[in-house]
Amino acid sequence: MPARGCAAAKATARSALARGPASPSSAPWPRGLHSVPRAAPAKPSSPPGGADGTFVAGEVVNKQPVAMGMSPELYGYVLRNTREPEVLRRLRAETATVNGAHMQVTPEQGSLLGLLVELLGAVRVLDLGVFTGYSSTAMALALPEDGRVYALDRDERPMQMARKYWAEAGVSGKVEAMVGPGVESLQTLLQREGPGFLDLAFIDADKRQYETYYELLLQLVRPGGLIAIDNTLFHGRVVNPTPEDKAGQALAALNAKLLTDPRVTVVLVPIGDGMTLCRRRR
Ligand SMILES: C[S@@+](CC[C@H](N)C(=O)[O-])C[C@H]1O[C@@H](n2cnc3c(N)ncnc32)[C@H](O)[C@@H]1O
Repeated sequence: MPARGCAAAKATARSALARGPASPSSAPWPRGLHSVPRAAPAKPSSPPGGADGTFVAGEVVNKQPVAMGMSPELYGYVLRNTREPEVLRRLRAETATVNGAHMQVTPEQGSLLGLLVELLGAVRVLDLGVFTGYSSTAMALALPEDGRVYALDRDERPMQMARKYWAEAGVSGKVEAMVGPGVESLQTLLQREGPGFLDLAFIDADKRQYETYYELLLQLVRPGGLIAIDNTLFHGRVVNPTPEDKAGQALAALNAKLLTDPRVTVVLVPIGDGMTLCRRRR
């Protein structure tokens, strides 16, 4: 499946494949990935699955050998200490076989999104940039039964895999897919639902439009709600973006704006490719 969509791929996002106890040399590498030195396998005492169907994320096949300055060994340790629902583990494995797999959020980011849903007591959340469905499924699993995920993407094709995993995760009834340009879908929601109806929004689509998404979502998210923005470190390109690097420039400008934006409390969390959390103050 060709992955169209992100104008610039998430440069440091990792495509990771959780594995079972198969011998390290026997399993084939998924298409489009290359191997890096892998961390020692999880200790035998690590349970293969918890009572709630939760696994540890396990071994990783990294697209990039260094995650946020971490050695592969240390990042492997992070993954082995990250809970990952079995259905997300399978989604990650299937996504690793398609083009654009590096765009998927990482397991620890998925866990963080689920935790944020819980912390906020969120009922209505939005995922802008669905791809094959990892972030939307991670949030949907953490929502209460009457919760809702508005799942926005302009590309229907990868969403087919997302729909399959929403069904397998038993969350299809919580998801409203909206296919089309993100700005248009956000404007539709603003008209239809009114301002302040969302508890949490996750932005993970085309970088050059992030500021527009942010401004629209500041209207859509309630006071006290959260906007999480992915790729805010953008493979380090935010430090000194070249004039040609429009996406890097857009993200650097957004980071600078967020730093002094009195409407939000903000933290740039160095997880994944950088994930900035903005809590709407008023
Ligand atoms: C980085 S991927 C999202 C990864 C996803 N969050 C996950 O966990 O797997 C970016 C997605 O944004 C979508 N996208 C890019 N530009 C868009 C736009 N203008 N409007 C809506 N979706 C867009 C792409 O089609 C792609 O599926």
